[in-house]
Amino acid sequence: MQHPDAPIGIFDSGIGGLTVASAILERMPSERIVYFGDTAHLPYGDKSAKSIQAYSRAITHFLIGKGCKMVVVACNTASAVGYREVKKICGRQVLSANVIDPVVSHLGDQHQTRRVGIIGTKRTVSTRAYTKRIQEFYPDIETAELATPLLAPMIEEGFFNNKISQTIINSYLSRKTLDQIDTLILACTHYPLIQKEIENFYKGGVRIVDSAGAVAVSVQEQLTQAGLLNPQKRAGKHEFYLSDYTRSFEETARIFFPGQPRLKEMNLWT
Ligand code: DGL
Repeated sequence: MQHPDAPIGIFDSGIGGLTVASAILERMPSERIVYFGDTAHLPYGDKSAKSIQAYSRAITHFLIGKGCKMVVVACNTASAVGYREVKKICGRQVLSANVIDPVVSHLGDQHQTRRVGIIGTKRTVSTRAYTKRIQEFYPDIETAELATPLLAPMIEEGFFNNKISQTIINSYLSRKTLDQIDTLILACTHYPLIQKEIENFYKGGVRIVDSAGAVAVSVQEQLTQAGLLNPQKRAGKHEFYLSDYTRSFEETARIFFPGQPRLKEMNLWT
């Protein structure tokens, strides 16, 4: 049986999942997290479904081994191709969450949505995971998916809020596929780091939806329902693991957790 004091496990290919981790902690400051960034295999977006499933399985076992009460797949790519396996490994003992379902289930809350653009990695877009779920919930909403493979590696390397990143972003967002959209889903957890540049491009004309806030709400709901919210008043000590140390991860991690992250290298595959 799980205990409310146990940490929440969160994983991504790199820093993207930190956007989700920080939203979770903002909502539930007394929770403790164990974060795993699989930088050795970054970017996930270019890998086969089989490889991403294998990475997701190994990380899930690691997080459960660390005593986590919940495993959050804070990566759209792994959510699209690997979540079913994560859920199976978690079984009834450990809660789990992905980043796609919470976003889709709240999409219709704002009524004016007619045509939704979805930008994400090549793998996420190839699965059409968003389109399939959106059509299930809201058959009247049109979707337009666009792979934007340069963005996650660019962000992971620390290229955001500068001229180079703005040029690349503008070039992707100008593609015909995204014409006439009224809403844009950031279907990659790295993208909130370039949200300002995306907003610069649209100048308020398009609603931007990122998954972090919706996922935090859904994590809180699940923990509350299971009676597993941490009752402590003070934040616990978080743990951050990387499968391969990178300086850019460390630098970006400090944006979210100033002074905090003491990163531990942990290669689960050697
Ligand atoms: N942050 C990831 C996502 O949400 C993956 C980026 C990548 O490794 O390609 O899809």
